[in-house]
Amino acid sequence: MILKGVNLAVKKGETIVVLGKSGSGKSVILQCIIGLIKPDEGVIKVFGKDINTLGEKEFLDFRKRTGFLFQSGALYDSMSVRENLEFPLKRHYGLESKELNSKVENALREVGLADAIDKMPSELSGGMRKRIGLARTLILQPEILLYDEPTTGLDPGTSREISGLIRGVQKERGMTSVVITHDMECVRITADRIAVLKEGRFIKTGNYEEVKTDGDEFIKSFFE
Ligand SMILES: Nc1ncnc2c1ncn2[C@@H]1O[C@H](COP(=O)(O)OP(=O)(O)OP(=O)(O)O)[C@@H](O)[C@H]1O
Ligand SMILES: [Mg+2]
Repeated sequence: MILKGVNLAVKKGETIVVLGKSGSGKSVILQCIIGLIKPDEGVIKVFGKDINTLGEKEFLDFRKRTGFLFQSGALYDSMSVRENLEFPLKRHYGLESKELNSKVENALREVGLADAIDKMPSELSGGMRKRIGLARTLILQPEILLYDEPTTGLDPGTSREISGLIRGVQKERGMTSVVITHDMECVRITADRIAVLKEGRFIKTGNYEEVKTDGDEFIKSFFE
């Protein structure tokens, strides 16, 4: 059992960063939150309901309201940027093409990549893929966003841009977010609160300063 006593309440509109070593179960936590993995014990409540007791229709509605940014960006390689962004809209809403177009353009503008609309994923850099992945998530206007290592594999400048984008989306939309990262610059930029995961439990929660000045060696190691 990788998670033992995880207890965390995320407030509406805040960004929580989960810090933990590789293999400590951070991705598993996110997958539990969106119902991809069912915990053996315990309850996960989102929008006030235990997500593992939802009926099919309720679950779909819950997933519509909950965006997930995968580590790789997870774009469909055989589809253009436009088609990638249209995909969730068609699937969830069956929208007309005129409406699709303006939504796609808006979402791309929001991530600063309006020019990339007719590109294929193979023509994009890693940072651009992350942005397009974010645009594809934002297009459904989620109320909660979950980010799994949003800056991993990017150079420091691009990482800062993506972190700034995450912060901007939160500020503009009042988005509730959970960010998993070991990029401390990303933590500094995005986190309202940090939760430190060790051996299946959260051993500390607090804002950046509170966690940074903690005396625990394990916690200190993240800030070195
Ligand atoms: N569906 C699952 N059910 C049970 N255990 C799983 C499941 N998926 C992954 N695990 C195990 O949980 C542990 C933590 O995996 P996880 O991917 O959450 O780590 P992580 O903290 O995200 O690490 P990294 O920083 O390397 O991404 C691993 O030992 C993995 O084998
Ligand atoms: Mg992971």
